[in-house]
Amino acid sequence: MTAEPGIAATAADLRRQLADRLEENRLLRSPQWRAAIETVPRHVFVPRFYRESDDPGLTTWEPITPEIVGQEEWLRLVYTDETWMTQFEGRDIDWSDPQPISNSTPTSSSTLPSLVVRILQDLGVQDGMTVLEIGTGTGYSTALMCHRLGDEAVTSIETDEGVARRAREALHQCGWTPRLLVADGRAGEPEGAPYDRLIATCGLRNIPPAWLEQVRPGGVILTTLRGWMRSLGLVKLVVTGDSASGWFSEDDPSFMIARQQDAPENLGMIPGPEDGTKREAEYGPEILTRTGPAFMTQLAAPDARFFSMSVDGGPVSTFVLDSVTDSFAVLTPSDSAWQVRQGGSRRLWDAVESAVSTWQEYGSPNSSAFGVTVSHDAQMVWLGSPNGPRWPLPS
Ligand SMILES: C[S@@+](CC[C@H](N)C(=O)[O-])C[C@H]1O[C@@H](n2cnc3c(N)ncnc32)[C@H](O)[C@@H]1O
Repeated sequence: MTAEPGIAATAADLRRQLADRLEENRLLRSPQWRAAIETVPRHVFVPRFYRESDDPGLTTWEPITPEIVGQEEWLRLVYTDETWMTQFEGRDIDWSDPQPISNSTPTSSSTLPSLVVRILQDLGVQDGMTVLEIGTGTGYSTALMCHRLGDEAVTSIETDEGVARRAREALHQCGWTPRLLVADGRAGEPEGAPYDRLIATCGLRNIPPAWLEQVRPGGVILTTLRGWMRSLGLVKLVVTGDSASGWFSEDDPSFMIARQQDAPENLGMIPGPEDGTKREAEYGPEILTRTGPAFMTQLAAPDARFFSMSVDGGPVSTFVLDSVTDSFAVLTPSDSAWQVRQGGSRRLWDAVESAVSTWQEYGSPNSSAFGVTVSHDAQMVWLGSPNGPRWPLPS
């Protein structure tokens, strides 16, 4: 069951309040996008959703519908600046009897409005431009673009059939009929090309080559890049012929990874206690989680993941495993330092330590000191300038 009629005035009021808050916090800076936020009824796009519960322990998600929390509270929540989850593990939710969900990975959501509006502003659209969106999700961001540019200017691709169907219904309910496709957005949509702008609301491990062909020279690709350990952040690329180049933003917003690029279930081979060659480590495992060094770790070991555990009752060791090359680094505390054991075709911890040292030599900058250049031959993240230190994105 969806919301009862008669809520239009309250919803409009809540939208105005949301726009005021975003403007006060300098997150909303354009009258055109303010008009879109004030017009698009987010409650049509998220008629039911899940929110993370405050309970300690296992991450649990609780269902929110007008029936469960009451219409007034549901509507208030819809218009808060929060991301609401709408799908887990690629499976549709049985809304006839929604249950709390634990230990599950969200696979679709309505992104928090401040992030949506921020990336839409960063996209730098002008009247008359065409946009290709990857990751329709609930259709909320698609609707904002339809309001701003006209629905004939908007193409949006969603990989999940059920998610795409619900977005289409919501958009049609509001009177918008953009071009919607169910497909892997990495292939883009050649029929509508060339586009002036391309925006992805799922995270990518690299820039799909098709996007370079489908965005006109001088056009912009705005996407988050991410790995299996963390997000690298938002990058804005200007297309020039068959390559594109641009900078990361200062913060590192994160979107769920494109489904086809999710990490393999198998973490890789866990090395035995005597495997690999030992040396004293310069840095311990804390760099895997500290913002700047963790960014460098993701660059230096793009196919790796890590976890910590105690082996045979010994001290807690951190395992960094690369399931693509079957390389490993194991960090174990020894006296006041850390020892690392490495094996496989890549010396993972050597690469990580070298990247972190380079970052320190450059004054430990935030992500806005980094940029990306992509062509059909190579995709590189660089520090300072395209000729500076470089790390390849995974192919
Ligand atoms: C964060 S949600 C999108 C939020 C949406 N823009 C909104 O405002 O509601 C990311 C979406 O990307 C979709 N997605 C993941 N991989 C994709 C791919 N390869 N091509 C197109 N969509 C993809 C997911 O199914 C999910 O619905």
